[in-house]
Amino acid sequence: MCGIVAYVGNREALPLILKGLKRLEYRGYDSSGVALLEDAKLNIYKKKGKVSDLEHELAGKNLTATIGIGHTRWATHGEPNDVNAHPHFSNNRRLSIIHNGIIENYASIKQNLIKKGHVFLSDTDTEVLIHFIEDIHLATAGSLESAVKLALKEVVGAYAIVVMSVDHPGQLIAARKGSPLVIGVGEDEFFFASDATPIIEYTKDVVYLDDYEVAIIKDGKLSIQNLDNTETIPYIQKLEMELETIEKGGYDHFMIKEIFEQSRSIGDSMRGRLRSEDAHLQLGGLNNYLDKLAEADRIIIVGCGTSWHAGLVAEYLFEELARVNVEVEYASEFRYRNPVISEKDIVIAISQSGETADTLAAIELAKSKGATIFGVCNVVGSSIARATHAGAYTHAGPEIGVASTKAFTAQVTVLTLIAIAMAKRKGTITEETYRQLLIELEHIPEKVAKVFENASKIKEIAFIFTYARNFIYLGRGLNFPVALEGALKLKEISYIHAEGYPAAEMKHGPIALIDEDMPVVFLATRDSSYEKIVSNIQEVKARKGRVIAIVTEGDKLIPGMVDFVIEVPQTHEMLTPLVSVIPLQLLSYYIAVMRGRNVDQPRNLAKSVTVE
Ligand code: F6R
Repeated sequence: MCGIVAYVGNREALPLILKGLKRLEYRGYDSSGVALLEDAKLNIYKKKGKVSDLEHELAGKNLTATIGIGHTRWATHGEPNDVNAHPHFSNNRRLSIIHNGIIENYASIKQNLIKKGHVFLSDTDTEVLIHFIEDIHLATAGSLESAVKLALKEVVGAYAIVVMSVDHPGQLIAARKGSPLVIGVGEDEFFFASDATPIIEYTKDVVYLDDYEVAIIKDGKLSIQNLDNTETIPYIQKLEMELETIEKGGYDHFMIKEIFEQSRSIGDSMRGRLRSEDAHLQLGGLNNYLDKLAEADRIIIVGCGTSWHAGLVAEYLFEELARVNVEVEYASEFRYRNPVISEKDIVIAISQSGETADTLAAIELAKSKGATIFGVCNVVGSSIARATHAGAYTHAGPEIGVASTKAFTAQVTVLTLIAIAMAKRKGTITEETYRQLLIELEHIPEKVAKVFENASKIKEIAFIFTYARNFIYLGRGLNFPVALEGALKLKEISYIHAEGYPAAEMKHGPIALIDEDMPVVFLATRDSSYEKIVSNIQEVKARKGRVIAIVTEGDKLIPGMVDFVIEVPQTHEMLTPLVSVIPLQLLSYYIAVMRGRNVDQPRNLAKSVTVE
């Protein structure tokens, strides 16, 4: 949450920062601002609304500074308005700061500073931090970086910050704990950003800052120190990301681009790991842990939102194929219980961003109790990827639309590979099933592409239901988590109330909601629950519900019973979610567009939830 960008070098900072903030808008988009240092003056420009509103405000101004910091906000402390937007000034207005995270003990620090005469303009914790840094700087008369470090030692919470001072032109000081920060290293220029997307256009050389590290750009050089002044040599990595992966490439929205990318991204998440012709399956990151996996008494899966849904799919896969006990937990609940965890447990943490605060905290808890932690993350070098013992990246490529689509199918793909590898090692599946699953997996990308042929039909259905007030999604077995995911997609981008249930649960309450105005989406593919789901459809039809059924190609029975059908290709039952989720993503996308919603940046949401 919140995106930060900073630049120092020879280019004009403002256009570069604004472009970078637009790339980071998925992290927060209620207000934005920049601070520029020019002609020995520190000026801040801030605006409620999107980065384009700020851009409008600054259009025509001659701002040629070559050093600056910028921020796009997802409000935590204080409502979204011009004053609470970042950057913030210190008390004497000689320092400014951008911040992503939360300073938990800001209130007590603020009280002390008020007693000393500090005047605060905003409601934010961030303004308190920069006043605190100034106070220490003036009191100790040391360097600015020492003041930043001393302040951060007192701070409780999470932060990625960049500080700029009118008294130190050419200098930027950045630090992180719990919130991501990437440094781009160019020729005579440096960039800071919450992720690499604002940077890749200019350099592929990056340094990922670690927790409790402070990066100082001074006299054209980068140095990295910890809070106790010990210097470390910056580890420069090459970015593998390509610019086109973070641009819309002719689509109206990132979300639809990412939905259509899935035939490729699912393939990418298997590439180099799976070869059916010689029954090869290997996940490099898990090689040394396969025995441990095979010996595990229990697997605990933690995640949030869509990643939690991928975990629910994995529960069916691991239990069915590898015959291991699985528990799937909301990371936010798990971390605050007193869960019984031992060294024999394996925890799999699933996260697209790799930065979700609750998931990270759940990992730390499980680690402290001796469990082995695997990560299934999309963002390379992310906090969760680094906090786990081992893992497998999903390789879905950058996901920019706030609603997760291709990350979900990539997560399910990787989890399927892990479940099959584990089953093979344990001998809980036959050689024939093993080979069959590998062959079927290789065909998934083309089957997903086949679902896209139904896009115009799905659009027509979306048109009919554009103004529905509620939706119910029902599925059984592996399609139950898909129902949950379909409902989540619809509610988050169209703001229609939607619920997902296991189809058999209907009669224990929700069936009371069914009438001729209630659209019910059934996941009714041909699998071991088929007959049962047919009965559930009849129950809904008997009460005049309007049924949209996702069925397997060639189904002759269900089309005669329901109002609308969307076909998906037949696949192995264990792989069904990879195809059955696609029409649900498209349905919610088209409905949201028809309702005029901002699908890539739905209200109140942010892509990377770095606050608990
Ligand atoms: C839904 C969505 C969220 C995320 C959740 C976890 O479309 O995107 O529910 O799945 O915030 O995020 P990650 O996977 O980054 O940990």
